[in-house]
Amino acid sequence: MPQTKFLLDEKDLPTHWYNVVADMPNPPSPPLGPDGQPVGPDALAAIFPPALIEQEVSAERFIPIPEPVREIYRLWRPSPLYRARRLEAALGTPAKIYYKYEGVSPAGSHKPNTAVAQAYYNAEAGIHRLTTETGAGQWGSALALAGRMFDIQVRVYMVKVSYEQKPFRRSLMQTWEAEVIPSPSDQTESGRKILAEHPDSPGSLGIAISEAVEEAASRADTNYSLGSVLNHVLLHQTVIGLEARKQFELAGDYPDAVFAPCGGGSNFGGVAFPFFADKAAGRAVRLVAVEPASCPTLTRGHYAYDFGDTVGLTPLLRMYTLGHDFVPPEIHAGGLRYHGDSALVSQLYHEGLIEAVAVPQVATFEAGVLFARAEGIVPAPESNHAIRAVIDEALACKERGEPRTLFFNLSGHGHFDMGAYDKYFSGDLKDYEYPESEIQAALARLPKVAGG
Ligand SMILES: Cc1ncc(COP(=O)(O)O)c(C=O)c1O
Repeated sequence: MPQTKFLLDEKDLPTHWYNVVADMPNPPSPPLGPDGQPVGPDALAAIFPPALIEQEVSAERFIPIPEPVREIYRLWRPSPLYRARRLEAALGTPAKIYYKYEGVSPAGSHKPNTAVAQAYYNAEAGIHRLTTETGAGQWGSALALAGRMFDIQVRVYMVKVSYEQKPFRRSLMQTWEAEVIPSPSDQTESGRKILAEHPDSPGSLGIAISEAVEEAASRADTNYSLGSVLNHVLLHQTVIGLEARKQFELAGDYPDAVFAPCGGGSNFGGVAFPFFADKAAGRAVRLVAVEPASCPTLTRGHYAYDFGDTVGLTPLLRMYTLGHDFVPPEIHAGGLRYHGDSALVSQLYHEGLIEAVAVPQVATFEAGVLFARAEGIVPAPESNHAIRAVIDEALACKERGEPRTLFFNLSGHGHFDMGAYDKYFSGDLKDYEYPESEIQAALARLPKVAGG
């Protein structure tokens, strides 16, 4: 009987996270301070606990997952790997399509994999209050959940457009006792500054990060937690790819190409980095980050030092960026509306070791609906980006008669995103290609750094 799901036992849950730095051909570019000099770990101590700072700069290949974190992972992990036989049939493709489903987490996406770890290390360091930002609401929900489990009070600055589009994400965060504030807000200097210049600002992840970082840096009892971009976040997400590799062994198969939606890079890094280890060891596997055409960081941005937030409070990271004051259009994949990208993902892309494609919004929903009608699961709008790219690849395989094995991470479900699906069904969803002139204008405002 053809098998559909490849399931691991709880005892197969990874014991270690995988650190891609150990297999990168060149060491990562260091974060820089406002003086253009590398920032030491001390500079991060105001907002992060020591264990996370250590992980941020570690070059160890494997880092142990603490048992209390594994205990919480076991509530939903290992997550299933599916063979999308019904989608393959619907497309009439000779390609084999697999997906790993991270929507089985209580918050509905991959984000709790790092939220739980970050909450644990903060609680260990005696911190019981965290601030963060959220775009789609997936990350805010994940940290709200993790905060609840480690007795940490969580304040979430939620990008205003998502706050309005997704009232029930807000309720979910409140169920787990988090406080949710629409950003830009009048609660911080950063928010007030943006509101003074742009009273109708829809907000952006960059602005919300400024607010959350400002508050954490100004309060001794509060740390900051980020749901993407940073090395330790991508590290925690590697449980996805590590499990997937074991599941491919069960399936007796191996992907020719791995696809993942990419905003700040934690979902892509989480699924793709363990396969990068195989690639570094000589195995042929393509790793493809998929981003929105309206926020085309890797495909149209510059590789340069830039701030991680809009106001300029964070250290400078060397990454692909559209400029820190770039405010992306109000697309429905809120989690992908970020001006920058992970430094690790950026460096691998710059060195030609991974690939990136950009896809337009309407085509992503078309792909998501096709997927839902074949496989049942209604994907998050972010996940629809990877599905679009996989369907395009599967159709190209059909054209060429190539039976490739394609794999993607279905990073979350779309149950709180039905407003966006409604817009798609009523024909109100629009494509938005960011004008080159606006990208160039934002890039002209990049901080000036030697070697950047
Ligand atoms: C469901 C889902 N998938 C993918 C992503 C993208 O993750 P990242 O920004 O880490 O690349 C997000 C981000 O919020 C998300 O919510």
